[in-house]
Amino acid sequence: MIKLLFDFIQFLNTVAPLLMALGVLTLLSVLLSKSIKRHAAVYYAVFSIPFALVAIPFVLRLFGIEMFNFNRIPFLGAILRDYIHAGTLGFPLLIIIMYMGALNPKNPYVKKLLSIRKELSILSGFPILTHALIRVTHNFPNALRFFTDNTEYMENARVVNVWGAGISNFSFVLGVLMLALFIPLWITSFDGVRKRMGSVRWKKWQRWSYVLYAMLFVHSLGIQTGGMLNPREERRTPPPAVAGTATAADAAHNRNNRGNAELRQRAGRDERRQSPSFANINVNPQARRYVHIASLFLIFGSYLYLRLGKARRERVRRT
Ligand code: HEM
Repeated sequence: MIKLLFDFIQFLNTVAPLLMALGVLTLLSVLLSKSIKRHAAVYYAVFSIPFALVAIPFVLRLFGIEMFNFNRIPFLGAILRDYIHAGTLGFPLLIIIMYMGALNPKNPYVKKLLSIRKELSILSGFPILTHALIRVTHNFPNALRFFTDNTEYMENARVVNVWGAGISNFSFVLGVLMLALFIPLWITSFDGVRKRMGSVRWKKWQRWSYVLYAMLFVHSLGIQTGGMLNPREERRTPPPAVAGTATAADAAHNRNNRGNAELRQRAGRDERRQSPSFANINVNPQARRYVHIASLFLIFGSYLYLRLGKARRERVRRT
């Protein structure tokens, strides 16, 4: 029974990781709200460690200094990859912060979340800035080339669909604008800056977060749609840098790999036939993308509905 439940949770986590992460982080935020409020500095310090473990080797590499790759350490590596991808930590945190403004502040759970809104905003910055740092340097220059030198880009890129490439690259360029907006919004979450700004100016600034949320939706949707139009398995393999460099050893290595993959697939099929379980349901990456896109519409659509409803009620109360 416990195994069935565990397999089911794992299955949900594979099919709808964003919704799962959102659920888990919301629960943790409510349960830990008092602790987060009381020991905010400790949480900031803990959240800043993965950021430092990605950022420091990254910056040193720019100066030609190679450092140990922390990604290789089990568990820690998974956290670092999570920070870099933003999908299961930074993204859900931003969604929780976004929803706080749309929900009923009198609800006891919302009250708990509202009491740590500033702290969650600061915490979200560590994974988001890690993601942006890596993506700006790895994806942005190439994305810009799509718009400035499209012929050269299409000749070298491993894509089959030009529309898909356009949508993805537009989303990456949008990411840089998001970063430009995110940094000041993040910095103004800190008490010292907030006090120096004064509450009127600070509140005016915070209205830009609605623009950030809209951009976040487009960024995410664009990346998923672009990925769907250029699925990994259909991407063109780049031509070898020098024709005829493939050796007999390479060919043997490839044959061996193919053989191993077939054996693994056969073993997997046999195992599935033997024990029907959630763990054995294989959901293909395209189907997962559909679920992810549906989750985005569900999350951002419900937010819009709730936020507009709240604004309407506030207007009625004022008149
Ligand atoms: C503050 C700025 C940024 C925020 C808040 C942000 C947010 C996100 C989020 C939430 C995702 C996950 C989307 C999903 O799972 O559907 C994502 C993915 C992605 N973003 Fe960003 N992003 C930012 C900046 C950038 C920049 C500057 C670039 C590149 C130029 C970029 C490139 C990507 C790429 C390639 C992915 C998909 C691969 C991955 O998960 O890492 N992002 N971004």
